[in-house]
Amino acid sequence: MGMRPISYSTGQKVLHWTIAALILAQVVIGILIAQILKPGPVTDTFYEVHKSFGLTILALALVRLAIRLWRGAPPLVEGLPAWQRTAARASHYALYALIIIVPIIGWTATSTCCAPVKYFWTIDVTLPANGGEDPMEASKPIFRIHRALALVLAGLALVHAGAALHHHFVRRDDTLRRMLGSSKSASQAAKPV
Ligand code: HEM
Ligand code: HEM
Repeated sequence: MGMRPISYSTGQKVLHWTIAALILAQVVIGILIAQILKPGPVTDTFYEVHKSFGLTILALALVRLAIRLWRGAPPLVEGLPAWQRTAARASHYALYALIIIVPIIGWTATSTCCAPVKYFWTIDVTLPANGGEDPMEASKPIFRIHRALALVLAGLALVHAGAALHHHFVRRDDTLRRMLGSSKSASQAAKPV
């Protein structure tokens, strides 16, 4: 794997915050379409936006994972108790997994019940799926998994954001700054090992 970088690249930061913003939108829009809005043209537009944002997240997440595997990430800040290091690593792996799995399951469910799945009203991106006699019924368990994992993702992201704020305001270390600021100042602040 070679040397570990001492900060996140600009691409990693931009992808981190873009995906975070899109996921916030996804959870709000997902709950609106599934629980709150009545069928109609406005709801249809939200469905199209939810599916297309979700596919965008999947594409960005794959790019981000590739960068992560190729470039790596800076080591965790020093002085953390072992359980926090373990929790940080485990939650980062889980977040990477969920931002890939949750959209794939939504895409599969929608391809089963409601073809064609289009990207922002244009290209047909329907997955080959066999819904049998009653595609709507066949899609239901897949949508239940989509919802359950989306809620796990949302919950974990909240704990993760809480941890970031704890680092910044309570521990007063560089964890949040190095995901936000310019790479230059972050690398000056970090102590290379
Ligand atoms: C990271 C990406 C995604 C997140 C966080 C997410 C999140 C959610 C959430 C929270 C719900 C509401 C579940 C409920 O209350 O029953 C939902 C519903 C839904 N999602 Fe996603 N979703 C994502 C990606 C996708 C993708 C890529 C598709 C399809 C291409 C999709 C299709 C749907 C559909 C059709 C519903 C409505 C189901 C219903 O009407 O019962 N989602 N999503
Ligand atoms: C759904 C939203 C989010 C997802 C999916 C997410 C995902 C991730 C992942 C996978 C990492 C590990 C990066 C790597 O090792 O390559 C990370 C790091 C980080 N995230 Fe998030 N994040 C989200 C929201 C947030 C929010 C809201 C905050 C701040 C309030 C935040 C602050 C941070 C910080 C500071 C790091 C760097 C941790 C370190 O360097 O040790 N994230 N995030």
